[in-house]
Amino acid sequence: MSREVVLTGITTTGTPHLGNYVGAIRPAIEASHNEYVLSYYFLADYHALIKNQNPKLLQQSTFEIAATWLACGLDPDKVVFYRQSDIPEIMELTWMLTCMSSKGLMNRSHAYKAMIQANEERGKKDLEEGVTMGLFCYPILMAADILMFKANKVPVGKDQIQHIEMARDIAQKFNHHYCELLILPESVTDKKASVLTGLDGRKMSKSYNNTIPLFLPEKKLRKHIMKIVTNSLEPGQPKDADTSTVFQVYQAFASEDETQEMRKKFEEGIAWGVAKQELFELVNGQLKDFREEYNRLMDDPAYVEKVLMQGAEKARAVSVPYIKQLRDAIGFKKIERLSE
Ligand code: TRP
Repeated sequence: MSREVVLTGITTTGTPHLGNYVGAIRPAIEASHNEYVLSYYFLADYHALIKNQNPKLLQQSTFEIAATWLACGLDPDKVVFYRQSDIPEIMELTWMLTCMSSKGLMNRSHAYKAMIQANEERGKKDLEEGVTMGLFCYPILMAADILMFKANKVPVGKDQIQHIEMARDIAQKFNHHYCELLILPESVTDKKASVLTGLDGRKMSKSYNNTIPLFLPEKKLRKHIMKIVTNSLEPGQPKDADTSTVFQVYQAFASEDETQEMRKKFEEGIAWGVAKQELFELVNGQLKDFREEYNRLMDDPAYVEKVLMQGAEKARAVSVPYIKQLRDAIGFKKIERLSE
């Protein structure tokens, strides 16, 4: 029996933070240990190009994110780990799918509508300002990523579910018009995926500027943790664990037992400074080896490049023959005597 195919795209923008680690990187790497699934993980640099048009930064970001995932334990021998732009077949499929996608479907894309709305709110005359065709057609590229590798399941955040539905729509249209070659994907959203709270008590997010970057040097990590907002309760006064960011972040890294112990300490009135120190020790203890490996990888670009090239080779072993089948189906084939 062939294994179920699970595929995830990793956006190559920004510096990964603890929220990304807890909410996406750690669960994805854990899931990749399941031997009953074949996992594809790729660095979505074609997607990144929509936002990032600085060549140096684009390259840098891809390198950093690749090193991050490898450092956190993604095993490139067990999964297919590749850079999207190394697979030209994805681009070719994108065009085939573009010609099967109605413009009306793209008009309904949340990301596009959000841009239009933002322009409206800012009182812009041209509501399409800043909307490139790249942004507009983003869902088609994403459909190609998924359909290229016959993915059955696509783990995504809630904001991406619409894109998977669009991929299904487009695939159905292709299958109906040509022949049943594309596999319809399903989205999976992890209901218990943790959302981490940031320094200011809101969701940890790049856009709120309240993150703790994943691979800060030890001293800086400690400094960031000390900056987490708390209340003015004194040592000895009982503290509410459930409304505390310090506790919430602690819990995301702690075992069940450690969490219970910390909860007790909160009830007993642990001083904020002490709680933060314990949080630092816990997080640092878990990230230390990863950080070391990350630094080692960042010093060895040739190795990271080699891993990605090997990943591309594995991916293309699938995409090259498949695109040939698809080309055939749409009529890109050798000219020969027309059949009657
Ligand atoms: N758009 C996704 C995000 O912003 C990243 C992505 C690109 C992706 N291609 C994909 C995710 C294919 C799943 C499948 O998170």
